[in-house]
Amino acid sequence: MKDLLTIKDLSLEGIKQIFDLSAKLKKEKQEGIEHKILLNKTLGMIFAKSSTRTRVSFEVGIYQLGGQGIFLSSNDIQLGRGETIEDTAKVLSRYVDGIMIRTFAHSDVEELAKYADIPVINGLTDSYHPCQALTDLFTIKENKGELKGLKMTYIGDGNNMVNSLLLAAAKVGLDISIASPQAYKPQEDVVSVAKEIAQSTESKIEITNDILTAAKDADVLYTDVWASMGDEDEIEERQAAFASYQVNSEVMSVAKKDAIFLHCLPAHRGEEVTAEVIDGDQSIVFDQAENRLHVQKAIMATLME
Ligand code: CP
Ligand code: NVA
Repeated sequence: MKDLLTIKDLSLEGIKQIFDLSAKLKKEKQEGIEHKILLNKTLGMIFAKSSTRTRVSFEVGIYQLGGQGIFLSSNDIQLGRGETIEDTAKVLSRYVDGIMIRTFAHSDVEELAKYADIPVINGLTDSYHPCQALTDLFTIKENKGELKGLKMTYIGDGNNMVNSLLLAAAKVGLDISIASPQAYKPQEDVVSVAKEIAQSTESKIEITNDILTAAKDADVLYTDVWASMGDEDEIEERQAAFASYQVNSEVMSVAKKDAIFLHCLPAHRGEEVTAEVIDGDQSIVFDQAENRLHVQKAIMATLME
């Protein structure tokens, strides 16, 4: 495996290896043990969209592995002035050892990976957010001890997050139930790939409009913003469409008593989740955010060593 563009790039064995390495690196970090696996390696980090977690966790992560990150805002590099993705990929391949990119069109990341001689890691596109989904599963495993047979419920927009969670759940045999308004359901093509993968892992995939059906007996509740980066001009119509698609205490009450709440963040309290839930006892969103660091270190170490 050269790149991580979507969860489809990973085998079940590959996911397990990343989780084992993430757990090891997390433990070593807590014990103050250094692990300079990527000594003197550099990661170019291209951002065409805003970021707090992805930027900081990749930059700190490569530093902790002994290397260095270079933040490249697409407004500041020539890519933003029309230099081609192909030329950018070829030039960066002469300087750095890996590229992380956050942008709009997923096809741009595929093109970058095609022309780069070095690993390319998808740090979010309009279609996928694989580093987040891997972190989410790692966080669930850390809390529940296992993944297979658990039920995760996702309530909200059929966006990049749900696409990646669907594929990740299918790969590891986690059941996933998704409740979205009719016009914002997950992409058909991604659902069908996930269902195909799920045949061998026995992961159950359910897509519904009904929040309480989806949340019933869930082990994990997950939501994300109603309007993703790039959807800003649709905020009002989305607020109307998603008004009842909120994770609140009523939704939590139909899930299992020990259910955990996850959100990739940033969150909008009072929209997709109430403050009571995200700031409550069942929420582990900051452990989840921390795990971005450990899991991405494992991803970089796997691809760039
Ligand atoms: N969850 C996530 O990717 O956060 P950022 O947009 O802050 O990177
Ligand atoms: N779906 C959100 C995720 C942010 C981490 C977005 O794309 O803006």
